[in-house]
Amino acid sequence: MTNRYAIILAAGQGTRMKSKLYKVLHPVMGRPMVQHVMDQLEALDLEKVVTVVGCGAEKVKEQLGERSLYALQEQQLGTGHAVQQTEALLANKKGTTLVVCGDTPLLTKETLAKLFDQHQKTNAKVTVLTTIMDDPSGYGRVIRNKSGDVEKIIEQKDATPDQRLITEINTGTYCFDNQFLFDALTLVTNNNAQGEYYLPDVIEIAKMKDEKVTAYQTSDSNETIGINDRVALAEAEKIMKQRINKQHMRNGVTIVDPDQTYITPSVEIAADVVIEPGTIIRGVTKIGSQTIIGPNSEIEDCQIGEETKITHSVVHQSKIGSHVNIGPFAHIRPNSEINNEVKVGNFVEVKKSSIDIGSKVSHLSYIGDAEIQKGVNVGCGTITVNYDGENKYKTTIKDGAFIGCNSNLIAPLTIGRGAFVAAGSTINKDVPDEALSIARAKQMNKADYAKKFNKLSK
Ligand code: UD1
Ligand code: CA
Repeated sequence: MTNRYAIILAAGQGTRMKSKLYKVLHPVMGRPMVQHVMDQLEALDLEKVVTVVGCGAEKVKEQLGERSLYALQEQQLGTGHAVQQTEALLANKKGTTLVVCGDTPLLTKETLAKLFDQHQKTNAKVTVLTTIMDDPSGYGRVIRNKSGDVEKIIEQKDATPDQRLITEINTGTYCFDNQFLFDALTLVTNNNAQGEYYLPDVIEIAKMKDEKVTAYQTSDSNETIGINDRVALAEAEKIMKQRINKQHMRNGVTIVDPDQTYITPSVEIAADVVIEPGTIIRGVTKIGSQTIIGPNSEIEDCQIGEETKITHSVVHQSKIGSHVNIGPFAHIRPNSEINNEVKVGNFVEVKKSSIDIGSKVSHLSYIGDAEIQKGVNVGCGTITVNYDGENKYKTTIKDGAFIGCNSNLIAPLTIGRGAFVAAGSTINKDVPDEALSIARAKQMNKADYAKKFNKLSK
């Protein structure tokens, strides 16, 4: 038993976001803020995590699922009142309770672990995580007495002009002796500028009762920003982007321009991968060694092999093998499987199709609902005609077939092994193995006929 608990405050509307989406669900690098907080807590070996929900309760619960227990705060009467709602789940526990806000997504487990440790080592009833902010506006200020001990927190709206000059801020993160916390909360009032029950008032109550209060000041103020509006959201995005990129670079990935590269937290990249500028890699994506992605590519939920090259292209929910060449300007849509040594070239769209080893679709083609087997050459401008306005049909092109340029393959259709389709054909019947199929109007040449229009001959 660690006797360590945590509460995430996530019941607020987030009025300053001016959004229909509840604040803690706004994504930072593609992941809702509250999930980032949860990710860090999960690494801390806690007995229980309770999330206080209110505005958008169902949505927040749906997001975190069974990762947390929940307490409902029906009316948002302040952060102190929010913590009180967890009473039924936590009040009689002996131990330490960490309180974090759902809108501080950059906090790390390392800092939280240090906060726990300092709190327990000093035997304090309250330990508040503070930092120095160049611009402290909007935050609660930490008021210390002459000997440097924390006396109380004053919210911006309640602060005097002098107090507003203080740059040490309350990060909204605390460790409390659990039983003390719930006793002290009964003494918090809403006699302040916002008419709310403030959680930080517990500090002043502890001091009045001669209980020990300490502060743990972190030097990394980037970790503690609270996201109240879209300006802070963009700042958080930038900080998290840098943090993720640095980690990949330390693991041996070359990121040519880290400011222009967006990689979400769940992406795995092997050493010696090169990411060129303007690239976005999201979701559950895994990239094998020596692959080059970018410039200007978007990859989402993909498995990508080794020594593959994807340039100026969009690839979603697909599997890409090794030694594959994609782009420039290709679009691989969901549920596609591109096997080793395949080439998908300029202006090619592939949808829900498989392309097997060594096949080439090099230029200007649409491949939808198709199975292209090994060693097939699909000529420029080929279209699998997969949709009749109501249903979608499959095209199969067997091993070693050769499809001439500008062919329409009207599905359902099978092109046999080693078959040839002549350029410009519209094929709507199966082609047997090794047959040549031509389906186009026969050419007719009329001698001297052009002389009538041709200026050259006048
Ligand atoms: C709070 C702190 C402030 C600190 C800052 C750090 C208080 C009174 N102020 O201010 O000292 O500097 O965080 O970021 O605590 N919430 C609820 N129920 C409520 C009110 C809020 O669950 O009734 C949740 C919100 O969803 C949010 C968190 O508590 O996740 C903090 O609330 P917010 O309104 O953002 O507080 P700040 O004004 O930022
Ligand atoms: Ca906040």
